[in-house]
Amino acid sequence: MPWAGPSTLTENAPIPGGFKRFPLSATLAASEAIASRRQRGQPILPLGFGESGLPVHPVLTAALADGAGHSGYGPVAGTQRLREAAAGYWSRRSLSTRPDQVVAGPGSKPLLFGLLLAIGSDVAVPRPSWVSYAAQTRLIGAMPHFVPALPGQGGICDPAELDRAVTASRAGDRRIGAVLVTLPDNPTGRLARSAAVRELCAVAERHDLIIISDEIYRDLVHDSSAEVVSPAAVAPDRTVVSTGLSKSLSVGGWRIGVARMPDGKAGPMLRDRLLGVASEIWSAPTGPVQHAAAVAFDEPDELVERVSRSRSLHAAVCTAAARICAKAGLAVAAPQAAFYLYPDFAPWRDDLSRRFGISGGPGLAALLLDRYGACTLPGSAFGENSTSWRLRLATGLLYGDLDEQREQALTAADPLRLPWIASALARLGEILADLRP
Ligand SMILES: Cc1ncc(COP(=O)(O)O)c(C=O)c1O
Repeated sequence: MPWAGPSTLTENAPIPGGFKRFPLSATLAASEAIASRRQRGQPILPLGFGESGLPVHPVLTAALADGAGHSGYGPVAGTQRLREAAAGYWSRRSLSTRPDQVVAGPGSKPLLFGLLLAIGSDVAVPRPSWVSYAAQTRLIGAMPHFVPALPGQGGICDPAELDRAVTASRAGDRRIGAVLVTLPDNPTGRLARSAAVRELCAVAERHDLIIISDEIYRDLVHDSSAEVVSPAAVAPDRTVVSTGLSKSLSVGGWRIGVARMPDGKAGPMLRDRLLGVASEIWSAPTGPVQHAAAVAFDEPDELVERVSRSRSLHAAVCTAAARICAKAGLAVAAPQAAFYLYPDFAPWRDDLSRRFGISGGPGLAALLLDRYGACTLPGSAFGENSTSWRLRLATGLLYGDLDEQREQALTAADPLRLPWIASALARLGEILADLRP
Protein backbone atom coordinates (compact mmCIF):
# COMPACT_ATOMS: atom_id res chain seq x y z
CA MET A 1 0.00 0.00 0.00
CA PRO A 2 1.38 3.48 -0.77
CA TRP A 3 2.33 5.53 2.27
CA ALA A 4 -0.49 7.95 3.00
CA GLY A 5 1.46 10.41 5.15
CA PRO A 6 2.00 10.51 8.90
CA SER A 7 -0.91 8.98 10.82
CA THR A 8 -1.13 12.03 13.12
CA LEU A 9 -2.03 14.27 10.19
CA THR A 10 -5.76 13.61 9.90
CA GLU A 11 -8.59 15.87 8.75
CA ASN A 12 -9.59 16.55 12.33
CA ALA A 13 -6.14 16.88 13.90
CA PRO A 14 -6.12 19.99 16.11
CA ILE A 15 -4.32 23.00 14.68
CA PRO A 16 -3.15 25.84 16.96
CA GLY A 17 -5.09 29.08 16.77
CA GLY A 18 -8.48 27.45 16.42
CA PHE A 19 -8.04 26.74 12.71
CA LYS A 20 -10.04 23.86 11.28
CA ARG A 21 -8.00 24.11 8.10
CA PHE A 22 -5.61 26.60 6.53
CA PRO A 23 -7.54 28.23 3.70
CA LEU A 24 -5.68 30.06 0.96
CA SER A 25 -5.55 33.78 1.71
CA ALA A 26 -8.63 35.38 0.09
CA THR A 27 -6.62 37.74 -2.10
CA LEU A 28 -4.37 35.00 -3.47
CA ALA A 29 -7.38 32.76 -4.00
CA ALA A 30 -8.91 35.62 -6.04
CA SER A 31 -5.74 35.84 -8.12
CA GLU A 32 -5.85 32.11 -8.83
CA ALA A 33 -9.54 32.32 -9.77
CA ILE A 34 -8.67 35.05 -12.30
CA ALA A 35 -5.81 32.98 -13.77
CA SER A 36 -7.88 29.83 -14.14
CA ARG A 37 -10.81 31.64 -15.82
CA ARG A 38 -8.31 33.25 -18.22
CA GLN A 39 -6.78 29.87 -18.97
CA ARG A 40 -10.21 28.51 -19.86
CA GLY A 41 -10.63 31.44 -22.26
CA GLN A 42 -13.46 32.98 -20.19
CA PRO A 43 -13.74 36.77 -20.04
CA ILE A 44 -12.79 38.30 -16.74
CA LEU A 45 -13.00 41.68 -15.10
CA PRO A 46 -10.13 41.42 -12.59
CA LEU A 47 -11.17 43.51 -9.59
CA GLY A 48 -10.25 40.97 -6.92
CA PHE A 49 -6.50 40.99 -6.46
CA GLY A 50 -4.66 43.91 -4.86
CA GLU A 51 -1.79 44.04 -7.28
CA SER A 52 -0.43 47.02 -9.12
CA GLY A 53 -0.08 45.62 -12.64
CA LEU A 54 2.63 47.89 -14.00
CA PRO A 55 5.96 47.07 -15.65
CA VAL A 56 9.15 46.95 -13.61
CA HIS A 57 11.20 50.10 -14.15
CA PRO A 58 14.43 49.42 -16.13
CA VAL A 59 16.51 51.00 -13.34
CA LEU A 60 15.29 48.17 -11.10
CA THR A 61 15.77 45.35 -13.61
CA ALA A 62 19.34 46.61 -14.20
CA ALA A 63 19.97 46.74 -10.44
CA LEU A 64 18.60 43.21 -10.04
CA ALA A 65 20.91 41.89 -12.76
CA ASP A 66 23.78 43.81 -11.22
CA GLY A 67 23.07 42.11 -7.88
CA ALA A 68 22.99 38.58 -9.30
CA GLY A 69 26.39 37.82 -7.78
CA HIS A 70 25.04 38.35 -4.24
CA SER A 71 24.72 34.65 -3.66
CA GLY A 72 25.64 34.34 0.02
CA TYR A 73 22.99 34.26 2.72
CA GLY A 74 24.13 37.59 4.21
CA PRO A 75 22.97 39.06 7.53
CA VAL A 76 19.55 37.98 8.86
CA ALA A 77 18.42 41.62 9.18
CA GLY A 78 19.39 42.38 5.59
CA THR A 79 22.52 43.97 4.16
CA GLN A 80 23.93 47.16 5.65
CA ARG A 81 23.52 48.77 2.20
CA LEU A 82 19.77 48.02 2.14
CA ARG A 83 19.24 49.03 5.76
CA GLU A 84 21.01 52.34 5.15
CA ALA A 85 18.85 52.97 2.09
CA ALA A 86 15.63 52.15 4.00
CA ALA A 87 16.76 54.38 6.89
CA GLY A 88 17.23 57.19 4.35
CA TYR A 89 13.76 56.54 2.89
CA TRP A 90 12.11 56.96 6.30
CA SER A 91 14.33 59.86 7.33
CA ARG A 92 13.10 61.73 4.22
CA ARG A 93 9.57 61.20 5.53
CA SER A 94 10.20 62.93 8.85
CA LEU A 95 11.00 59.66 10.66
CA SER A 96 14.67 59.92 11.47
CA THR A 97 15.93 56.32 11.32
CA ARG A 98 19.21 54.52 12.01
CA PRO A 99 20.16 51.52 9.85
CA ASP A 100 20.25 49.31 12.94
CA GLN A 101 16.53 50.01 13.44
CA VAL A 102 15.73 48.37 10.11
CA VAL A 103 14.97 44.70 9.53
CA ALA A 104 14.44 43.52 5.94
CA GLY A 105 12.52 40.39 5.01
CA PRO A 106 11.01 38.54 2.02
CA GLY A 107 7.99 40.86 1.78
CA SER A 108 6.29 42.92 4.46
CA LYS A 109 3.79 40.08 4.98
CA PRO A 110 6.31 37.66 6.56
CA LEU A 111 7.76 40.57 8.51
CA LEU A 112 4.31 41.29 9.95
CA PHE A 113 3.92 37.63 10.82
CA GLY A 114 7.36 37.63 12.50
CA LEU A 115 6.39 40.74 14.45
CA LEU A 116 3.15 39.17 15.65
CA LEU A 117 5.11 36.13 16.81
CA ALA A 118 7.69 38.38 18.47
CA ILE A 119 4.95 40.29 20.33
CA GLY A 120 3.05 37.11 21.15
CA SER A 121 -0.20 38.63 22.44
CA ASP A 122 -3.72 39.15 21.12
CA VAL A 123 -4.00 41.94 18.58
CA ALA A 124 -6.63 44.61 17.90
CA VAL A 125 -7.38 44.97 14.20
CA PRO A 126 -9.73 47.41 12.50
CA ARG A 127 -12.92 46.09 10.99
CA PRO A 128 -12.56 46.06 8.04
CA SER A 129 -8.83 45.49 7.55
CA TRP A 130 -6.42 43.65 5.27
CA VAL A 131 -7.15 39.91 5.11
CA SER A 132 -3.89 38.66 6.60
CA TYR A 133 -3.77 40.48 9.95
CA ALA A 134 -6.47 38.36 11.57
CA ALA A 135 -5.36 35.15 9.82
CA GLN A 136 -1.74 35.63 10.90
CA THR A 137 -2.80 36.37 14.47
CA ARG A 138 -4.70 33.08 14.53
CA LEU A 139 -1.72 31.26 13.01
CA ILE A 140 0.44 32.29 15.97
CA GLY A 141 -2.20 30.89 18.32
CA ALA A 142 -3.46 34.31 19.51
CA MET A 143 -6.80 36.02 18.98
CA PRO A 144 -7.60 38.93 16.69
CA HIS A 145 -10.04 41.40 18.26
CA PHE A 146 -11.95 43.28 15.57
CA VAL A 147 -12.61 46.89 16.50
CA PRO A 148 -14.79 49.03 14.20
CA ALA A 149 -12.74 51.39 12.04
CA LEU A 150 -13.54 55.08 12.39
CA PRO A 151 -16.40 55.82 10.02
CA GLY A 152 -15.13 57.42 6.82
CA GLN A 153 -11.49 56.76 7.79
CA GLY A 154 -10.26 53.29 6.98
CA GLY A 155 -7.34 51.47 8.54
CA ILE A 156 -7.65 52.80 12.06
CA CYS A 157 -9.63 51.44 15.01
CA ASP A 158 -12.06 53.89 16.53
CA PRO A 159 -9.93 54.99 19.55
CA ALA A 160 -12.86 54.94 22.02
CA GLU A 161 -13.87 51.45 20.86
CA LEU A 162 -10.23 50.33 21.10
CA ASP A 163 -10.07 51.60 24.65
CA ARG A 164 -13.19 49.60 25.51
CA ALA A 165 -11.98 46.45 23.74
CA VAL A 166 -8.61 46.46 25.53
CA THR A 167 -10.23 47.07 28.91
CA ALA A 168 -12.78 44.31 28.31
CA SER A 169 -10.17 41.82 27.12
CA ARG A 170 -8.04 42.42 30.17
CA ALA A 171 -11.01 42.09 32.49
CA GLY A 172 -11.42 38.61 30.97
CA ASP A 173 -8.54 36.24 30.43
CA ARG A 174 -7.13 37.76 27.23
CA ARG A 175 -4.45 40.40 26.76
CA ILE A 176 -4.49 42.67 23.74
CA GLY A 177 -0.86 43.77 23.50
CA ALA A 178 -0.77 45.33 20.04
CA VAL A 179 -2.91 47.24 17.58
CA LEU A 180 -2.65 47.34 13.81
CA VAL A 181 -3.02 50.47 11.71
CA THR A 182 -3.04 50.56 7.89
CA LEU A 183 -2.01 53.97 6.63
CA PRO A 184 -3.46 54.47 4.05
CA ASP A 185 -5.86 51.59 4.02
CA ASN A 186 -6.64 48.44 2.09
CA PRO A 187 -9.60 47.62 1.61
CA THR A 188 -11.20 51.07 1.88
CA GLY A 189 -8.60 53.18 0.04
CA ARG A 190 -9.02 55.79 2.81
CA LEU A 191 -6.42 57.66 4.82
CA ALA A 192 -6.77 58.12 8.59
CA ARG A 193 -6.63 61.75 9.66
CA SER A 194 -3.87 62.98 11.95
CA ALA A 195 -6.28 63.71 14.83
CA ALA A 196 -7.43 60.07 14.78
CA VAL A 197 -3.83 58.82 14.69
CA ARG A 198 -3.03 60.97 17.74
CA GLU A 199 -6.07 59.70 19.64
CA LEU A 200 -5.19 56.11 18.84
CA CYS A 201 -1.62 56.68 20.03
CA ALA A 202 -2.96 58.10 23.32
CA VAL A 203 -5.02 54.92 23.87
CA ALA A 204 -1.98 52.78 23.00
CA GLU A 205 0.06 54.78 25.53
CA ARG A 206 -2.59 54.35 28.23
CA HIS A 207 -2.75 50.57 27.76
CA ASP A 208 0.89 50.04 26.85
CA LEU A 209 0.14 48.65 23.38
CA ILE A 210 2.65 48.17 20.58
CA ILE A 211 1.38 49.87 17.41
CA ILE A 212 2.14 48.16 14.11
CA SER A 213 1.71 50.71 11.36
CA ASP A 214 1.52 49.09 7.94
CA GLU A 215 2.47 51.89 5.55
CA ILE A 216 2.92 49.90 2.35
CA TYR A 217 0.60 52.30 0.46
CA ARG A 218 2.07 55.49 1.92
CA ASP A 219 3.58 56.69 -1.35
CA LEU A 220 0.34 56.09 -3.22
CA VAL A 221 -1.85 58.71 -1.50
CA HIS A 222 -3.54 60.32 -4.50
CA ASP A 223 -3.15 63.86 -3.21
CA SER A 224 0.60 63.99 -2.74
CA SER A 225 0.26 67.12 -0.59
CA ALA A 226 -2.08 65.38 1.89
CA GLU A 227 -0.78 65.18 5.45
CA VAL A 228 0.27 61.62 6.38
CA VAL A 229 1.01 61.36 10.09
CA SER A 230 2.56 58.05 11.04
CA PRO A 231 1.92 56.77 14.56
CA ALA A 232 5.73 56.46 14.69
CA ALA A 233 5.93 60.29 14.68
CA VAL A 234 3.47 60.51 17.59
CA ALA A 235 4.38 57.45 19.67
CA PRO A 236 7.96 56.68 18.53
CA ASP A 237 8.79 54.38 21.43
CA ARG A 238 5.97 51.94 20.76
CA THR A 239 5.46 51.97 16.99
CA VAL A 240 6.83 49.58 14.39
CA VAL A 241 6.41 50.67 10.76
CA SER A 242 6.41 48.26 7.84
CA THR A 243 6.59 48.94 4.13
CA GLY A 244 7.75 47.37 0.88
CA LEU A 245 8.06 47.86 -2.85
CA SER A 246 5.25 45.56 -4.01
CA LYS A 247 2.69 48.33 -4.44
CA SER A 248 4.60 51.54 -5.16
CA LEU A 249 6.98 49.93 -7.68
CA SER A 250 4.89 46.90 -8.68
CA VAL A 251 7.43 44.23 -7.74
CA GLY A 252 5.28 42.05 -5.47
CA GLY A 253 6.87 38.92 -6.90
CA TRP A 254 10.33 40.03 -5.86
CA ARG A 255 9.31 39.55 -2.23
CA ILE A 256 11.03 42.28 -0.28
CA GLY A 257 9.88 44.40 2.66
CA VAL A 258 11.34 46.37 5.53
CA ALA A 259 10.31 47.09 9.11
CA ARG A 260 11.41 50.03 11.25
CA MET A 261 11.73 49.17 14.93
CA PRO A 262 10.55 51.60 17.66
CA ASP A 263 12.95 54.28 18.90
CA GLY A 264 13.07 53.45 22.61
CA LYS A 265 14.04 50.35 24.53
CA ALA A 266 11.26 48.28 22.92
CA GLY A 267 13.22 48.65 19.66
CA PRO A 268 16.20 46.35 20.34
CA MET A 269 13.99 43.87 22.20
CA LEU A 270 11.54 43.51 19.29
CA ARG A 271 14.39 43.48 16.79
CA ASP A 272 16.15 40.63 18.57
CA ARG A 273 12.97 38.59 18.73
CA LEU A 274 12.09 39.31 15.11
CA LEU A 275 15.59 38.30 14.03
CA GLY A 276 15.22 35.08 16.02
CA VAL A 277 12.03 34.28 14.08
CA ALA A 278 13.58 35.34 10.77
CA SER A 279 16.67 33.25 11.33
CA GLU A 280 14.53 30.13 11.79
CA ILE A 281 12.20 30.77 8.86
CA TRP A 282 13.72 32.72 5.96
CA SER A 283 17.38 33.13 7.08
CA ALA A 284 17.81 36.36 5.12
CA PRO A 285 16.08 38.19 2.26
CA THR A 286 17.16 37.18 -1.27
CA GLY A 287 20.57 38.70 -2.08
CA PRO A 288 20.03 40.13 -5.59
CA VAL A 289 16.63 41.54 -4.61
CA GLN A 290 18.18 43.32 -1.62
CA HIS A 291 20.67 44.91 -3.97
CA ALA A 292 17.86 46.21 -6.21
CA ALA A 293 15.72 47.23 -3.23
CA ALA A 294 18.55 49.38 -1.89
CA VAL A 295 18.55 51.26 -5.21
CA ALA A 296 14.76 51.67 -4.92
CA PHE A 297 14.89 53.00 -1.35
CA ASP A 298 17.59 55.48 -2.42
CA GLU A 299 14.81 57.00 -4.57
CA PRO A 300 16.70 58.13 -7.67
CA ASP A 301 14.81 60.67 -9.79
CA GLU A 302 13.63 58.10 -12.37
CA LEU A 303 11.94 56.02 -9.68
CA VAL A 304 10.41 59.04 -7.95
CA GLU A 305 8.95 59.94 -11.33
CA ARG A 306 7.68 56.36 -11.82
CA VAL A 307 5.95 56.30 -8.42
CA SER A 308 4.40 59.66 -9.17
CA ARG A 309 3.03 58.50 -12.55
CA SER A 310 1.69 55.30 -11.00
CA ARG A 311 0.00 57.31 -8.28
CA SER A 312 -1.75 59.52 -10.85
CA LEU A 313 -2.82 56.49 -12.89
CA HIS A 314 -4.21 54.70 -9.82
CA ALA A 315 -6.04 57.87 -8.79
CA ALA A 316 -7.59 58.38 -12.23
CA VAL A 317 -8.84 54.81 -12.72
CA CYS A 318 -9.90 54.18 -9.15
CA THR A 319 -11.77 57.48 -8.91
CA ALA A 320 -13.49 56.75 -12.23
CA ALA A 321 -14.60 53.33 -10.91
CA ALA A 322 -15.95 54.99 -7.75
CA ARG A 323 -17.88 57.50 -9.87
CA ILE A 324 -19.46 54.64 -11.83
CA CYS A 325 -20.51 52.95 -8.58
CA ALA A 326 -21.93 56.17 -7.14
CA LYS A 327 -23.80 56.93 -10.38
CA ALA A 328 -25.37 53.48 -10.26
CA GLY A 329 -26.70 54.25 -6.77
CA LEU A 330 -24.18 52.49 -4.51
CA ALA A 331 -22.79 54.08 -1.35
CA VAL A 332 -19.05 54.58 -1.82
CA ALA A 333 -16.50 56.85 -0.14
CA ALA A 334 -14.13 58.63 -2.52
CA PRO A 335 -10.88 56.65 -2.72
CA GLN A 336 -7.89 58.58 -1.37
CA ALA A 337 -5.04 56.14 -1.99
CA ALA A 338 -3.77 53.22 -4.03
CA PHE A 339 -6.24 51.30 -6.24
CA TYR A 340 -9.03 50.32 -3.87
CA LEU A 341 -12.65 51.26 -3.44
CA TYR A 342 -15.12 49.75 -1.07
CA PRO A 343 -18.69 50.23 -2.29
CA ASP A 344 -21.66 49.19 -0.22
CA PHE A 345 -24.45 47.41 -2.12
CA ALA A 346 -26.81 47.72 0.87
CA PRO A 347 -29.08 50.15 -1.02
CA TRP A 348 -29.88 47.21 -3.37
CA ARG A 349 -30.08 44.61 -0.61
CA ASP A 350 -33.80 43.76 -0.78
CA ASP A 351 -33.87 43.50 -4.52
CA LEU A 352 -30.66 41.41 -4.74
CA SER A 353 -31.94 39.04 -2.05
CA ARG A 354 -35.25 38.59 -3.83
CA ARG A 355 -33.84 38.15 -7.33
CA PHE A 356 -30.83 36.00 -6.55
CA GLY A 357 -31.49 34.51 -3.11
CA ILE A 358 -28.29 35.96 -1.65
CA SER A 359 -27.89 37.46 1.79
CA GLY A 360 -24.68 39.51 1.67
CA GLY A 361 -21.19 40.08 0.28
CA PRO A 362 -20.07 36.44 -0.19
CA GLY A 363 -23.16 35.59 -2.29
CA LEU A 364 -22.82 38.83 -4.20
CA ALA A 365 -19.13 38.23 -5.02
CA ALA A 366 -19.97 34.70 -6.21
CA LEU A 367 -22.82 36.06 -8.33
CA LEU A 368 -20.55 38.67 -9.93
CA LEU A 369 -17.99 36.02 -10.79
CA ASP A 370 -20.45 33.44 -12.15
CA ARG A 371 -22.79 35.73 -14.01
CA TYR A 372 -20.38 38.41 -15.28
CA GLY A 373 -16.82 37.09 -14.83
CA ALA A 374 -16.11 39.96 -12.43
CA CYS A 375 -13.74 38.99 -9.66
CA THR A 376 -14.16 41.00 -6.42
CA LEU A 377 -13.74 40.31 -2.72
CA PRO A 378 -16.57 40.46 -0.16
CA GLY A 379 -16.21 42.57 2.98
CA SER A 380 -16.27 39.31 4.97
CA ALA A 381 -12.69 38.63 3.72
CA PHE A 382 -11.74 41.78 5.64
CA GLY A 383 -13.45 40.84 8.88
CA GLU A 384 -16.95 42.14 8.14
CA ASN A 385 -20.02 40.13 8.94
CA SER A 386 -21.20 37.90 6.08
CA THR A 387 -24.41 39.95 5.98
CA SER A 388 -22.42 43.06 5.05
CA TRP A 389 -23.03 44.06 1.41
CA ARG A 390 -19.67 45.72 0.93
CA LEU A 391 -17.25 44.55 -1.73
CA ARG A 392 -13.65 45.53 -2.25
CA LEU A 393 -12.88 46.43 -5.82
CA ALA A 394 -9.21 46.64 -6.80
CA THR A 395 -8.53 48.52 -10.03
CA GLY A 396 -4.75 47.92 -10.27
CA LEU A 397 -5.07 45.19 -12.88
CA LEU A 398 -7.09 47.21 -15.40
CA TYR A 399 -4.09 48.82 -17.08
CA GLY A 400 -3.73 46.26 -19.85
CA ASP A 401 -2.58 42.70 -20.43
CA LEU A 402 0.65 43.65 -22.18
CA ASP A 403 3.60 45.65 -20.86
CA GLU A 404 3.26 47.92 -23.88
CA GLN A 405 -0.31 48.82 -22.87
CA ARG A 406 0.73 49.36 -19.28
CA GLU A 407 3.57 51.66 -20.33
CA GLN A 408 1.05 53.64 -22.36
CA ALA A 409 -1.24 53.80 -19.35
CA LEU A 410 1.60 55.32 -17.32
CA THR A 411 2.37 58.03 -19.85
CA ALA A 412 -1.08 58.82 -21.29
CA ALA A 413 -2.35 62.34 -20.66
CA ASP A 414 -5.76 60.79 -20.00
CA PRO A 415 -5.52 57.04 -19.28
CA LEU A 416 -9.33 56.80 -19.17
CA ARG A 417 -9.37 57.30 -22.94
CA LEU A 418 -7.17 54.28 -23.65
CA PRO A 419 -9.52 51.72 -25.23
CA TRP A 420 -8.68 48.81 -22.90
CA ILE A 421 -9.14 50.90 -19.74
CA ALA A 422 -12.27 52.57 -21.12
CA SER A 423 -13.79 49.19 -21.98
CA ALA A 424 -13.01 47.69 -18.55
CA LEU A 425 -14.68 50.64 -16.86
CA ALA A 426 -17.60 50.49 -19.30
CA ARG A 427 -18.00 46.81 -18.43
CA LEU A 428 -18.22 47.70 -14.73
CA GLY A 429 -20.95 50.20 -15.61
CA GLU A 430 -22.87 47.58 -17.65
CA ILE A 431 -22.69 45.03 -14.85
CA LEU A 432 -24.01 47.51 -12.32
CA ALA A 433 -26.74 48.63 -14.73
CA ASP A 434 -27.81 45.00 -15.10
CA LEU A 435 -27.79 44.36 -11.36
CA ARG A 436 -29.43 47.57 -10.33
CA PRO A 437 -33.03 47.30 -9.03
C1 LIG B 1 -2.14 46.28 3.68
C2 LIG B 1 -1.12 45.35 3.12
N1 LIG B 1 -0.04 45.06 3.86
C3 LIG B 1 0.90 44.21 3.41
C4 LIG B 1 0.78 43.60 2.18
C5 LIG B 1 1.84 42.60 1.76
O1 LIG B 1 2.78 43.13 0.95
P1 LIG B 1 4.17 42.40 0.62
O2 LIG B 1 4.14 42.12 -0.82
O3 LIG B 1 5.22 43.41 1.04
O4 LIG B 1 4.28 41.16 1.47
C6 LIG B 1 -0.32 43.87 1.37
C7 LIG B 1 -0.50 43.20 0.07
O5 LIG B 1 -1.58 43.03 -0.45
C8 LIG B 1 -1.30 44.79 1.85
O6 LIG B 1 -2.39 45.08 1.13
